[in-house]
Amino acid sequence: MKMLVAKNHEEAGVLVAGMIAETVRLNPNACLGLATGGSMEPVYAALVRLFENGKIRFDSVTTVNLDEYAGLPPSHPQSYRQYMNSRLFDHVKIDIRNTCIPLGTEPPEKICRDFQKFLDAHPRDLQLLGVGANGHIGFNEPGTFFESQAHIVTLNEQTREDNSRFFASIDDVPKQAVTMGVGDIMKASAIVILIHGSGKLRAVRELFTHERVIPEVPCTVLKLHRNATIVLTEDLARMAELTPDRA
Ligand code: F6R
Repeated sequence: MKMLVAKNHEEAGVLVAGMIAETVRLNPNACLGLATGGSMEPVYAALVRLFENGKIRFDSVTTVNLDEYAGLPPSHPQSYRQYMNSRLFDHVKIDIRNTCIPLGTEPPEKICRDFQKFLDAHPRDLQLLGVGANGHIGFNEPGTFFESQAHIVTLNEQTREDNSRFFASIDDVPKQAVTMGVGDIMKASAIVILIHGSGKLRAVRELFTHERVIPEVPCTVLKLHRNATIVLTEDLARMAELTPDRA
């Protein structure tokens, strides 16, 4: 794992957007695995700026998101389809048919089957990831089998609490989601993880201070990937007592 330390959240977003732009420059037909959540907001803002300045084109790019809440229609303001449309897809020239986000309202078996079929047919050149406070990646909660494929998960109470900031109340946060499995996340040619916020300290320590790779902290599997880059903000690196050459 390579570690890069950015001055702040916005700079981390610029850094990650630059890596995405480089991936697309090298392969204009790239397939990008995308993530949502608060950590990713500056990434998409920076990508829109790069697009406006002619530094990236999405004409031939395919995207696939990590996850979607089960039961939320794509039109719901907190669906990940809405998140992606409002942060990125509405602001760049991309064929929306080339953007895959599982449909949360389909029957569970069908969602997983269709999602897995898409993943099998579209290997990711780059997978973008955030990390949950409990170390989840995508919505692969602690204990998920490392070889897992697309599946429905019951969200941890901590995850629902963390995400309740985007909803009117915790009761509105869906209890289930569909997620890309750890096995498919690990198949990406490159993985870029942006970790932001003091709530992620435990996950950062598990990644950099301990040697162990354990399903109880799903992000630790990234230690086994041949091309994973972790972008951290300076304050978080300081809290975890890390220096960039430690990775
Ligand atoms: C969402 C996703 C999640 C988030 C994680 C961190 O698509 O994959 O794993 O990356 O829950 O969320 P934030 O950035 O809101 O702290």
